[in-house]
Amino acid sequence: MNLLKEIQNRRSVRNYLTDEISKDTVLDILQAGIMAPSAKNNQPWRFVIVSTDIKNKISDKMVELVGPNKTAEVIKTVPYLILVYNKDNEYFNHLSIGAAIENILLEATNRGLGTLWIGYIKKIEDYVKELVNIDYELVSAIAIGVKNEDPVARPRLKLEDVLIETS
Ligand SMILES: Cc1cc2nc3c(=O)[nH]c(=O)nc-3n(C[C@H](O)[C@H](O)[C@H](O)COP(=O)(O)O)c2cc1C
Repeated sequence: MNLLKEIQNRRSVRNYLTDEISKDTVLDILQAGIMAPSAKNNQPWRFVIVSTDIKNKISDKMVELVGPNKTAEVIKTVPYLILVYNKDNEYFNHLSIGAAIENILLEATNRGLGTLWIGYIKKIEDYVKELVNIDYELVSAIAIGVKNEDPVARPRLKLEDVLIETS
């Protein structure tokens, strides 16, 4: 595997087929997440793979609260939605969890699957807490499914635009 190629191939996918993916595949992909570095190796991430029923409720609530939107559509149609939680309040936890999420996106990409990192779930955090009885802080969600689109790469700043030279 050429890692840089997978990094360059990854896209945010917002259209999915209804094709099934096995739970074992998703668990294998999550293994990549738990190999991420974390501050003091405290591994602050916690994951919940939600049922179809909960997924639909989350999507419906998002539409109810913020109006129809693509993210809610993805949540409704994608076969797997994984909620990502932060187990406690340590300073670097969000950075560590971001690393875990990126590992998950890359491993799914490596398997030819589509993913979407969903920060928008924060908009309905309180409702998700009612539905999924978990007291940890909800950080994000990840959609994983079989792609029904191959989005073109979104633009990136050039390296020279972000690399600050010091004298
Ligand atoms: C923290 C974070 C939260 C995001 N939340 C959402 C979201 O709620 N809905 C969505 O459609 N895309 C979301 N995205 C995806 C970004 O829009 C996407 O990564 C960016 O536009 C670059 O496109 P690319 O991922 O295809 O390279 C999120 C990305 C990150 C890193």
